[in-house]
Amino acid sequence: MTPVTIGPCTLYQGDCREVMTTLPDGSVTMIWTDPPYGHGNADGDLLSRRAAAVGDGYDSTAVAILNDLPDTMRECVDVMLREAVRVLSPDCCCCCCCCCCGGGPRPTFAWVANRMDSQGLQFFHSVIWDKKNPGMGWRYRRQHEMVMVAHRKGGRLAWANADKKQRNIISISKPRDCVHPNEKPVELVKVFTDLHTLPGQTILDPFMGSGTTGIACIRTGRRFIGIELDPAYFEIARKRIEAEWQAKSGTVGMFAAGGKA
Ligand SMILES: C[S@@+](CC[C@H](N)C(=O)[O-])C[C@H]1O[C@@H](n2cnc3c(N)ncnc32)[C@H](O)[C@@H]1O
Repeated sequence: MTPVTIGPCTLYQGDCREVMTTLPDGSVTMIWTDPPYGHGNADGDLLSRRAAAVGDGYDSTAVAILNDLPDTMRECVDVMLREAVRVLSPDCCCCCCCCCCGGGPRPTFAWVANRMDSQGLQFFHSVIWDKKNPGMGWRYRRQHEMVMVAHRKGGRLAWANADKKQRNIISISKPRDCVHPNEKPVELVKVFTDLHTLPGQTILDPFMGSGTTGIACIRTGRRFIGIELDPAYFEIARKRIEAEWQAKSGTVGMFAAGGKA
């Protein structure tokens, strides 16, 4: 499978369970990723109910998430974590977003922390992303998501600046005009990439969606590897990353061998 190369970014359209096996051992300093949540939105059903409730005109068929059924989500995340242990450097950081509730594997954040430990990582801390506005859900409405932070067992959590102090509740609004239903704010990703990597180091997002992690990498001078299974979201990510790189470098159409414009 031939990747698309855009400046410091290498993008694969494919299944991370296959693509990650082609990446060399210890070649990545950080993984920042946001897998499917296991909420059963593989066919857009969850979002069609949201559209009916909120009435905001979402086209649910256009925003279905591949592998969002609980079983397939579990399988994807498990394989990703197993490969993560191999591709990460000994001192590293692995950040995995997940929901705060019991909608997927129950409860999802506890399942992810447990699977990190089982697959050869060491769970370190949970961080809360406070989205500032309540979202979907009844009774306890979902105003936050969790980011589970781990490193390789036997190694240490990589810190770019040991003196830097960071709260484990980060309040940043969800982006307006999202191009992906689960789109994360670039500023949220940047908090983690700034804390745990240095410029020039490589960050991998195996479930890149609309490419938000790639945008954060370009803005901060990191190298990026992104993988996305859905061709439509891959195309959105490719275009966003290309526009960001052109804006930063003033370069049009300068891609390394193997890439395509
Ligand atoms: C929660 S979304 C990520 C959204 C992203 N953080 C953003 O800001 O746009 C998860 C993405 O994983 C993709 N996906 C599902 N299974 C995959 C797999 N096996 N390999 C690669 N991508 C996959 C889905 O198509 C979806 O776009």
